[in-house]
Amino acid sequence: MHATNLIIKKRDGLELTNTEIAWLINAYTHGEIPDYQMSAWLMAVFFQGMSARETAALTMSMAESGDMVDLSQVPGIKVDKHSTGGVADTTTLVIAPLVAAAGVPVAKMSGRGLGFTGGTIDKLESIPGFKATLDREKFIANLKKYNIAITGQSTAIAPADGKIYALRDVTATIESIPLIASSIMSKKIAAGADKIILDVKVGSGAFMKNKADAIKLAKTMVRIGELVGRETVAVLTSMEEPLGTAIGNSLEIKEAIEILSGRGEAALREVCLILASQMLILGGKAQTPESGLTKLVSLIDNGQALAKFTEFVAAQGGNAAVVNNINLLPQAKFSVEVINDCEGYVRTIDAAKVGYAAMHLGAGREYKGQTIDLAAGLVMNCRIGQYISQNHLLATLYSNDETKLELAGLLLKQAITIDRGPVDIPPLILGFVD
Ligand code: URA
Ligand code: CA
Repeated sequence: MHATNLIIKKRDGLELTNTEIAWLINAYTHGEIPDYQMSAWLMAVFFQGMSARETAALTMSMAESGDMVDLSQVPGIKVDKHSTGGVADTTTLVIAPLVAAAGVPVAKMSGRGLGFTGGTIDKLESIPGFKATLDREKFIANLKKYNIAITGQSTAIAPADGKIYALRDVTATIESIPLIASSIMSKKIAAGADKIILDVKVGSGAFMKNKADAIKLAKTMVRIGELVGRETVAVLTSMEEPLGTAIGNSLEIKEAIEILSGRGEAALREVCLILASQMLILGGKAQTPESGLTKLVSLIDNGQALAKFTEFVAAQGGNAAVVNNINLLPQAKFSVEVINDCEGYVRTIDAAKVGYAAMHLGAGREYKGQTIDLAAGLVMNCRIGQYISQNHLLATLYSNDETKLELAGLLLKQAITIDRGPVDIPPLILGFVD
């Protein structure tokens, strides 16, 4: 086989066979095809697209390029959750212990944050002592014993995707639905999930800016799941504004504890409950979304969800006392309140800009490997549609670097627009694909 022929085939809008796709991915991963040929092929895919069969074949070739985690010795249906990325998206920290408390084993490999979106592993590491790197034996042992284990994603998972993603990043081929879908699904499949729930974010702060594109991406991923025997359900959720109130690592741990305690931001709680109830259905622990919801709400109300979070933190070496005393989490030396100067209705809150303000405060990385300030970030105090008076508190900013506060405050104000007339509240849940 020759790379040139496969580039020609895709360029001319023809379908590649599964064998051809497997050969291409394998040869590229092993350095037998140069970056310029792979780049040309990716650009051809960008313009010509891929059939469902080709997309599934690409997914499996990338999944099988490295370790395929086998969780078959853990009883139960392992359901993994993936978010396409948002701001103040504390859902994993809430959903993982909540679903585990309901009896569905939650085995998660999570990433670190890059740019204005946060990563679950960084958030968990703000808990003193927490170990986010578990070896295979410990991961499986914890999963069996507590129904929950979360570890950083090893480089042995879907290495082909790592290499191809880096190439896409610099060749303007990120924004291709079959390439995004296969990239996400390959990692979930290699990480050992039996079934997958996808939180596809839609809106100004998301990858997918509109509902039509989000549905296309969701359908492509659900179809891959069908074709490779890993049932997948997608929920489209709004990222027109930050989901929760907290953005920043220890601040989001605190917010997750609030939600698990039955308090906290209603929008974040609702999205967590909807995703978690779908996970109970996939995991065979609920028949309908309604019965799933009832079960989940009772686990929050009777304290079992928070108890599971406490147990999980302790099992991974973290100081579980943070649950009752959030002052044990890293605290920022400096804080400032951002105050509104004109009254009206909140029309827009640009989630990407708010995320950028939090990153500037030290909560996020501008480049891979950068050290972050685990205490830094911000807590929002307004939502779209809300009427706010002059001098209303918009947000509180936190940082260990006092010089960052002023610019972050300006960025935050620029992220919010205020209008005279009433504003419709955007819907939180935009649809389901299954
Ligand atoms: N997230 C991924 O993992 N891959 C993509 O291609 C896009 C988002
Ligand atoms: Ca289905």
